[in-house]
Amino acid sequence: MPERITVTVNGQPLSVAPGTSVAAAIMMTGVHCRTSVAGEPRSPLCGMGICFECRAMVNGLPHCRTCQMLCEPGMEVRSQ
Ligand code: FES
Repeated sequence: MPERITVTVNGQPLSVAPGTSVAAAIMMTGVHCRTSVAGEPRSPLCGMGICFECRAMVNGLPHCRTCQMLCEPGMEVRSQ
């Protein structure tokens, strides 16, 4: 297992430890996961796949619950 994994969050390369959730990687960059219909920044709340507040685009797939996904090498993540 590699000691570090590199993912891209909103175009910014980020090195994380294996086992890091995508939600945690997004938080490390200081951005939010998505913007609500009212224009408010939203980020992980429950951390267990129930609230859907952590949704973001992962490898081009929108509305992924990032708290339930682990970072993989080369993963592309975008706030939505
Ligand atoms: S933080 Fe609640 S579903 Fe991901």
